[in-house]
Amino acid sequence: MCASSLNGFDIVTRHLVMEKDLNPEGHLFGGAMLAWLDEATGIYVMEKIGYPDFVTVGLDNVYFKAPGHRGDIITIYSRIVKTGASSVTAETKAVNHELHSGADREIITCRFTFVCLKEHQAYPYFKSPEYRVWQEKQRGAPARD
Ligand SMILES: CC(C)(COP(=O)(O)OP(=O)(O)OC[C@H]1O[C@@H](n2cnc3c(N)ncnc32)[C@H](O)[C@@H]1OP(=O)(O)O)[C@@H](O)C(=O)NCCC(=O)NCCS
Repeated sequence: MCASSLNGFDIVTRHLVMEKDLNPEGHLFGGAMLAWLDEATGIYVMEKIGYPDFVTVGLDNVYFKAPGHRGDIITIYSRIVKTGASSVTAETKAVNHELHSGADREIITCRFTFVCLKEHQAYPYFKSPEYRVWQEKQRGAPARD
């Protein structure tokens, strides 16, 4: 996992598309792709907000723009676009970087919304003192490379 920045997006992780990930058309199966994105976006958000206890409440703006193929190396990018009281929304995309041509093929873009929980209830974490402490710690922390 790394965090180089690209137009506001951070690289979260990569996946190699294998035979087991394909649908009968030979394209990357959308369900497999969405599972990768859900997990990657969850990890990304966890590290950005400093709180691990949340669930996915919404998935929208899903656009399968181009097929993924066996052998593709898919890079997943994410960025937080909105926080509410208990919710946080991140935009995520997956891109295949063609090794030989150097061209990028955007495969999917979508948005995930997560809700922070405490004792199994929505928890307004972004209004809490613990979030303010996290933000201050981030501001004071030396930059990671
Ligand atoms: C997430 C959950 C606790 C929210 O409970 P709830 O009673 O609807 O909570 P609230 O109505 O107080 O809403 C909480 C937040 O979620 C947001 N929200 C609710 N439904 C939403 C939706 N469909 N899309 C986006 N945001 C939504 C609200 O706007 C609110 O945001 P805010 O606090 O930032 O203003 C509940 O819906 C749940 O447990 N869902 C199942 C989650 C799950 O199992 N996910 C799959 C596995 S991770």
